[in-house]
Parts: sequence; C-alpha cells; structure tokens
Amino acid sequence: MGRTHIYISNSHLLCQVLFLCVLGPAFLGVIKPTSCTSNLLTFRCSQMEKNALLNFKESLTDPSNRLSSWVGEDCCKWIGVGCDNTTSHVVKLDLYNPLRRETYNCKSCLGGKISPSLLNLTHLSYLDLSLNNFEGQLPASLGHLTNLSTLVLSVNNITGEIPSSFANLCNLQTFRLMANGISGEITQFVDGLSQCSNNSLELLDLSGNKLLGGNLPYSLGALKNLKNLDLSSCSFWGSIPDSIGNMSSLQLLALTANKMNGSIPNSMGKLSTLEKLALGGGNSWEGVLTEAHFQNLTQLTFIELGISTRWSLVLNVKHEWVPPFSLTYIVFNRMKIGPKFPAWLQTQNELKYLSLVDVGISDTLPQGFWNSSSSLSYLSLYQNQIRGQVPYYQSYSITYYLDLRFNNFEGQVPLFHSKFMKVLYLEENMFSGAVPENIGELLPNLLHLVLSSNFITGRIPPSIGILKSLEILALRNNSLSGELPPHWDDMQSLYFLDISDNNISGKLPSSMQFLSSLQWLSLGQNHLEGELPSFLRECTKLISLDLGGNKFFGNIPVWIGESLSNLSRLSLRSNLFDEVIPQQLCLLSSLHILDLAHNDLSGGIPQCLGNLSKNGESKFANFLEQIAIFYKGRDYLFRNTIYLVHSLDLSGNNLSGEIPDSITDLLKLNILNLSMNHLIGKIPKNIGNLKSLESFDLSKNQLFGPIPESLSSLTFLSHLNLSFNNLSGKIPFGNQLQTLTDPSIYQGNPLLCGLPLSKKCLGDETDPRTTPNGSGNGEDNNDGMEFGSLSFYISMVAGYIVGFWGVCGTLIVKTSWRQAYFRGFDNLKDRIAVFIMVKVVPLIRKIKFERN
Ligand SMILES: *[C@@H]1O[C@H](CO)[C@@H](O)[C@H](O)[C@H]1NC(C)=O
Ligand SMILES: *[C@@H]1O[C@H](CO)[C@@H](O)[C@H](O)[C@H]1NC(C)=O
Ligand SMILES: *[C@@H]1O[C@H](CO)[C@@H](O)[C@H](O)[C@H]1NC(C)=O
Ligand SMILES: *[C@@H]1O[C@H](CO)[C@@H](O)[C@H](O)[C@H]1NC(C)=O
Ligand SMILES: *[C@@H]1O[C@H](CO)[C@@H](O)[C@H](O)[C@H]1NC(C)=O
Ligand SMILES: *[C@@H]1O[C@H](CO)[C@@H](O)[C@H](O)[C@H]1NC(C)=O
Ligand SMILES: *[C@@H]1O[C@H](CO)[C@@H](O)[C@H](O)[C@H]1NC(C)=O
Ligand SMILES: *[C@@H]1O[C@H](CO)[C@@H](O)[C@H](O)[C@H]1NC(C)=O
Ligand SMILES: *[C@@H]1O[C@H](CO)[C@@H](O)[C@H](O)[C@H]1NC(C)=O
Ligand SMILES: *[C@@H]1O[C@H](CO)[C@@H](O)[C@H](O)[C@H]1NC(C)=O
Ligand SMILES: *[C@@H]1O[C@H](CO)[C@@H](O)[C@H](O)[C@H]1NC(C)=O
Ligand SMILES: *[C@@H]1O[C@H](CO)[C@@H](O)[C@H](O)[C@H]1NC(C)=O
Repeated sequence: MGRTHIYISNSHLLCQVLFLCVLGPAFLGVIKPTSCTSNLLTFRCSQMEKNALLNFKESLTDPSNRLSSWVGEDCCKWIGVGCDNTTSHVVKLDLYNPLRRETYNCKSCLGGKISPSLLNLTHLSYLDLSLNNFEGQLPASLGHLTNLSTLVLSVNNITGEIPSSFANLCNLQTFRLMANGISGEITQFVDGLSQCSNNSLELLDLSGNKLLGGNLPYSLGALKNLKNLDLSSCSFWGSIPDSIGNMSSLQLLALTANKMNGSIPNSMGKLSTLEKLALGGGNSWEGVLTEAHFQNLTQLTFIELGISTRWSLVLNVKHEWVPPFSLTYIVFNRMKIGPKFPAWLQTQNELKYLSLVDVGISDTLPQGFWNSSSSLSYLSLYQNQIRGQVPYYQSYSITYYLDLRFNNFEGQVPLFHSKFMKVLYLEENMFSGAVPENIGELLPNLLHLVLSSNFITGRIPPSIGILKSLEILALRNNSLSGELPPHWDDMQSLYFLDISDNNISGKLPSSMQFLSSLQWLSLGQNHLEGELPSFLRECTKLISLDLGGNKFFGNIPVWIGESLSNLSRLSLRSNLFDEVIPQQLCLLSSLHILDLAHNDLSGGIPQCLGNLSKNGESKFANFLEQIAIFYKGRDYLFRNTIYLVHSLDLSGNNLSGEIPDSITDLLKLNILNLSMNHLIGKIPKNIGNLKSLESFDLSKNQLFGPIPESLSSLTFLSHLNLSFNNLSGKIPFGNQLQTLTDPSIYQGNPLLCGLPLSKKCLGDETDPRTTPNGSGNGEDNNDGMEFGSLSFYISMVAGYIVGFWGVCGTLIVKTSWRQAYFRGFDNLKDRIAVFIMVKVVPLIRKIKFERN
C-alpha cells in the first residue's frame, strides 16, 4: 500500500485522496465480504417465480453463459437462486460476479437491463447483482419487494434516480449502489425510510456516484440502526445535519470527495460508536471544530479531514485538552490548527499515520516528539513553519514515509538507519552539513530522496550508487561540491535526477549511460565541463535535459535528435557550444522548450525548426519538476506546469542568415528570443500566426524592411524588443501594440517612424491618434500577471491545483536565483482564476478577434 501512495500521483496529498477514494473502502473495512453461492435445495419453486426468473434472464446479456444452469422445472437448483427451506419460495438471488474482482475485464459480466419481472419474486430478501455490467434505470418495482433486506448493485452502470418506491424498503439492512451512474438526491429515499419507526438499515453505500448530490437530509438522524454510511465521491454539498447526533449506531461516516461547504455540527460528538470518520478529499468545510465535536467519540480510531479550501475549517481546542479517543490514523490537511503545535497529539500513543499539511503551525515540536513518533509509519508535516532540529541519530524504526518539506527545520540532515524508509522529503528547510557518506547502507530501500533547497555542503556520497531501488534523487539548490559520484551502474530505477544549482565540477561519469529509466536530468548551474558525452544517447527515455549554466563545449551532437526521441525540453543555455545547430534537432517532435541561448553557435537557423512540437507536450508530470525560463528580462521558475510552456531561445549566439518563415508554424510558441545574433533579412510576414506569443525579442540583429502589420494581432504580447536593427517604415499600431508604449523597444532603427517614437512618418502630420499616456508598459513591471498571459494561465492552473488538491503546484516568480518568491493562492483567487479561464478568456479572445 505504501508503494501505491508513492506511485499514483504527483503528490502525496493527491495520493491520500486517491487512497481514500479508491482503496479507502477496503481500508475502512467496508468492502463486500465474498458471498457464497446459493444453497441447492430440492424444493420446487412456483411457476410464477420461475417465470419471473426466466424473464429476468431473457432481458440480460450473458456472454460467458453463466446462467446455463437456468433450465428445468426446479428453479431452486439454478445457480445463484436460493429458496426458503420450508416454503420453497425464492428468497435469494445472488449473481455477484467474483471473477470481476480478480481481473478488471468484464467478459464474465452479466449485462443489459434489470427486468421489472423481479417484482414477482415477492419473497425475495437477498438480491446481489454486483460487479456486473447492468445498465439502465433501477426498476421501481424493486421497491415493492418489501421483504428485501440485502440489495447490492455495486461496480455496474446503473443510471437515473433512486426510485421513490425504494422508500418502502423498511426491512432493508444492506444497500450498496457503489460506483454506478446514479443521479439526483437521496432526500426522498431517506425521508421515506425514516417514516417507518422500525427501519432496519445498517449499511448504506452510495459512494462513487458522481451525479448524486444535494443536501444531506435531516431525516438521516432517524436511521438509528445505521452503522456504515458511505457517501464519498458523490456531489453532496452544504452542512452535515444536526440530526447526525441521533445516529446512535454509526461506526463509519464517509463523506470524502464531495462538495461539502457548510459546517460540521457539535452533535457529531455524540456518536459514541463512531470508529472511522472520513470527511476530506476535496470538501471545503467551514467553521470551527471544538472539543464538543469530539466529546463522546471514544471509539474513534481514524479521522481524515484533508480539505480543499485552505484554512476554511479551524480546529480550536484548549492546550490541555485530552481527547476521549486514541487514533491510529490522522489526516488534518489544510485545516487551521496552529500556530502552536497541538499538545493533545502527545496523548495519541497508537498513532501510525499522521499528516498535518499546511495547518499553520509555526512552533517547535514538543520535547520528546521524535521519540514518541518512532512508531509512526507515515509522517507528513509538509508546508508549515516548524522550527528546530531533527535528531539524526533517532531510530525511526518503522517509518516508511517522512515528509518535512517547506518548514524551517535546521541542523544536520537527519539520516538514520532504517530498512523501512522508502520516502524522505526534506526540501526547502535549513538543513546543513554533509550527506552522510554511508547513506547507501543506512537507507538501503529508499525510493525517493529529496533534499533540495537546503544548505547542504560536501560531496555527493558515492554510496548513493548502491541504492538500487532509488527512483527520485533531488539535491537541487544546495552547496554541494566536488565531482559527481562515479557509480550509477546499478541505479536502473532512477527516472528523476536533479542536482542543478550546486557547485559540482568535473565531467559526467560514463556509468550514467546505465541510467536506463532516466526521464529527467537536470545538472544546470554547476561547473561541469567537457564535451557533451555521447553515452547520454543511451538514456533514450529522457524527456527533459538541462545542462545549462556549465562549461560544456564542442558541437551540439546530432544524436540528441536521433536517439532521444521523446525529448520535450532541452536547455544547453550558457555553455561554450559552437558550430551549427544540427538539423537533426528537428526530429524531436515533442520538443517544446529549446534553449540554446548564450553559446557560440554559428550558421543559420534550421528551416525545419517549424516541425518542432508536432506531437504536443509530454505528459511527464512529477511534483518535483521545476524549470527556470528566462524571458521578459528575468528568470521565471515554473513548477508542475512546465508542459504549458512553449519557448524557443537562440539569443546571444553568432547565428546568421534569415529568420526562416517556417518559424511561424510554431503556433503554440509563447516565447521567441533570437536577439543578439547576426540575423539579416525581414521579419516573417506571418508572425501574427503565433497567437500565443507573449515575449518576442529580435533586438541586436541586422534585420531590415518593415515591421509586419500582423504583429498587431498578437493578443498576449506583453514583451517586445526590436531595437538595434535596420527596420524601416511605419510602426504598426492597434490592439496589443497600443499598450507597448515604451519607445526604447524600437530604438536604434533610424528608419522607423510613427508612435510611440516621436519621429512622425511622412504624410502623417495630422495623425488623429492621441499619444498614449505612456505608462511605460513595454518592460512590464508587474509580476508577469498580464491578463490572459502565459504566466497568468500558469499561475491560474497552478492555483487551481493548489486549491483543489493542496499540491504545491506553484509558479514561482523570482528576480534572480535564491531570492524571495511567493507561493500559494488563496481560494477566492483560485475560483476567480478558474472562472476567468473557463468563461472570460474565451469571450475576450472572441471579442478581440471579431474586432480585428
Ligand atoms: C435450511 O437448510 C440449510 C441447509 O440444509 C440449513 O443449514 C438451514 O439451517 C435451513 N434453514 C432453516 C430455516 O431451516
Ligand atoms: C408477474 O406474474 C404475473 C402472473 O404470472 C404476470 O402476469 C405479470 O406480468 C408478472 N409481472 C411482471 C412485472 O413480470
Ligand atoms: C417477510 O418476512 C417475514 C419474516 O421474515 C415473513 O413472515 C413474511 O412471510 C415474509 N413475507 C413475504 C411476502 O415473504
Ligand atoms: C454505461 O452506459 C452508458 C450508456 O448508458 C455507456 O455509454 C457507457 O459506455 C457505459 N459504461 C460502461 C463502463 O459500460
Ligand atoms: C416494520 O413496520 C412495517 C409497518 O410499519 C411492517 O410492515 C414491517 O414488517 C416491519 N418490519 C419489521 C422488521 O418489523
Ligand atoms: C433525536 O431523536 C429524538 C427522539 O429520538 C428527537 O426528539 C430529537 O428531535 C432528535 N434530534 C434531532 C436533532 O434529530
Ligand atoms: C455551497 O454550495 C452550494 C452549491 O454549490 C451553494 O448553493 C451554496 O451557496 C454554498 N454554500 C456556502 C455556505 O458556501
Ligand atoms: C456521552 O456518553 C455518556 C455515557 O455514555 C453519556 O452519559 C453522555 O450523556 C454522553 N454525552 C453526550 C454529549 O452525548
Ligand atoms: C529520546 O530518545 C533518546 C535515545 O533513544 C534519548 O537519548 C533521549 O533522551 C530521548 N529524549 C526524550 C526527550 O525523551
Ligand atoms: C534555494 O534554497 C533556499 C534555502 O531553502 C530557498 O530559500 C530558496 O528559495 C531556494 N531557491 C530556489 C530557486 O528554489
Ligand atoms: C565551488 O567549488 C570550488 C572547488 O570545486 C571552490 O573553490 C569554490 O569555493 C566553491 N564555491 C562555492 C560557492 O561553494
Ligand atoms: C516515448 O514515449 C512514448 C509515449 O509515452 C512511449 O510509448 C515510448 O516508449 C517512449 N520511448 C522511449 C524510447 O522511451
């Protein structure tokens, strides 16, 4: 199960959600017990019941002939049919499909519609059609089978609402409709059941019906026998009704992954039988939880409250509170709990799983926390401001997941001996000192090691090389020095390697060619040198290769284009590469970020570059991916949303010849920088095709001729620089160009005229246009948040992800390395951003294009 956590998604939070939605039912102990097939009895069933069964069979599909035994007079002998010993009436129909549980495929599934003829099985008390492929609506006639006590219709394709007749099923004890396509509300059904004072419902599982929603009915409180209520992964909203406190038998309450946006009533504290409470995974509860909410929850062992709207729910209990429960599983993500560390946690001695993500704790951990937490197998304190040291000698004997990212922990890197540890995330703290030389022996089964953005010094210990299972190694943004460790031969699982922004020197060791799983290699901003080693061509799975900011030299090898066919990001920026740009780069049909700026490249820009990114973006997504992109005069750090960026930067080389027209085929391009070369000829006439272009720089070349009119149709253009060329004629005007009023973006072209330059064009003396009131927008000075712009979209998408999953998917805008940045967006912004993305932007675009 640990591995599931680690693999499924790009964030452990998302994992938790998935964990609860997908595996949760199993964990919560509500998975269906294997049911046995019918007793074969010797009694003869009535003609009417036999006909009802035959009609039922007739209306379904049975590709694997499971019902082949349904012939002959005595229907009590048919497979799946059970009769009462004394009356010989059919009381049980169990067509649950056990094969479906083992293999996901549905070859053995019964399908088609559920025939209303079941109505004639008037004595039926047990009906199980689960794990098949029945479709269509629930027959209202089932509601007249008043003796029905078990009705199980889970992992089918049943649609429509719960028929009102179901409210008659007062004898129903178990009702499972999990994972169908049921819609509407449950109010009528529950209201009806609550009318019969002797209703016997014990288990109600309607989870995974995305269209089922509305408010939770007040009448739920009357279901006094209900033990398990699972309404997770539906669309319920509003509050939990106050009447919940009357559900005196409740053991499980699961409302995970709904749209709950109201409050949780005090009366929940009366549920003295409650064992498992799962309310998070995308809900945005409001209000304050106090001691009263937990007053009598003596049996509680499991609580999950990972909410989607940051801090909309507050846990406010007295410092000296001693809870009545002893929990094994706690998730309190994105609730407000701090600033003090909750002292009551110290009373929880059975805890195995603790997740307090972004709960506003800015405190030190209490004395003895690390000692008492040694029985935890999962600990996440991600994104708080917790201070203090983490004892590095500690024996965290069974911890397999430790996430302390984005806090203020300091002192030595806490690495300790543990063969259980799989995941260790310490990113962005203030840990210092060296990585222990024997890390390979200390944590032999590690899968993820993330130490990025600390103050770690010393070399990368060669013993890293014996971590055979390691998949992720991220050491970015530290002060590591020395050479790369020599042995990578055994690291066949490693797919993410980021050591950028350190002080590593020397050449790439040739054993790196054995990194056969490698998809992401970032070694930028170090002091590496040598020619680009040809053994990298063996790493054919590479999607992102960043060697920028080093001292590599020689030519750009043709094999990059020929062998690394899945490459979608390539940065060789700021090295010493020379000679021509090889045509073979154009073979990289997924490439959407190509940064060769500030090298010594010569020759022309290959005509074929227009072929790039034919296949669109790669789908590689990892919560650690992070890339710096230079545009609008500074570095922007993109996290998680890199796939949205399309950039071509060849600036600062010795490129000559004309700009190929084919460049205007790169329709998704956001950033195009060809400045500081020796390019001649005209700006391609169709430059206006690049509708997504936001930053466009051709400055310091020898381009001549007019500026194409089509430039004015670039709606998102917010950074333009055409200075120091030989361009001539009238500067086009209108639309977005109207906002770029800084004359310096055209300076150094003596033959240009018209606004925003003061030089008037011939015959233009009576220009009716008023001079724009010069806000100097050419070099935009906000935080890259131009409406509808790339950064705007990116922050928006990131914000949306933050809001929804609590992932740290964030655009980090920064002015230079190691400077302050912001992260996170509050919920209102998220909502507005999504609204704008979905509704407003297309509208504005439409209006803009129609106006043209
Ligand atoms: C019905 O028969 C089965 C098997 O013969 C037996 O186990 C069960 O107790 C019987 N039930 C009743 C109510 O007689
Ligand atoms: C129930 O049985 C009666 C008598 O055999 C038959 O007329 C009727 O159509 C059946 N009802 C359904 C819904 O099949
Ligand atoms: C319903 O169940 C009760 C008790 O189990 C029984 O007495 C009654 O006959 C059943 N009714 C029908 C229609 O089978
Ligand atoms: C469910 O039924 C709908 C039509 O009602 C159909 O389009 C869909 O493919 C079905 N889903 C599955 C998994 O069979
Ligand atoms: C519950 O009460 C209804 C009438 O209100 C009756 O028909 C039904 O048989 C009762 N069920 C039980 C289990 O007593
Ligand atoms: C709880 O049940 C009692 C009677 O059993 C009733 O008087 C009371 O109104 C109910 N409370 C709520 C909040 O439903
Ligand atoms: C909760 O959501 C519903 C449906 O989206 C909305 O109508 C209602 O106003 C919301 N309530 C609160 C308190 O936000
Ligand atoms: C809590 O439980 C105790 C004993 O079961 C009971 O006396 C008390 O009234 C309950 N309190 C609440 C608020 O339900
Ligand atoms: C924690 O445990 C270590 C060794 O197991 C011990 O030296 C230390 O005193 C303990 N600290 C506290 C606060 O109990
Ligand atoms: C680098 O690490 C320091 C220390 O944690 C952090 O403050 C800074 O934001 C990091 N810079 C980047 C670009 O991640
Ligand atoms: C980087 O490493 C070199 C030796 O390789 C050393 O001289 C230099 O001081 C280091 N720089 C920093 C900032 O640590
Ligand atoms: C490239 O990506 C595709 C699609 O993700 C994948 O099927 C293929 O195996 C990859 N090629 C290599 C060499 O990894």
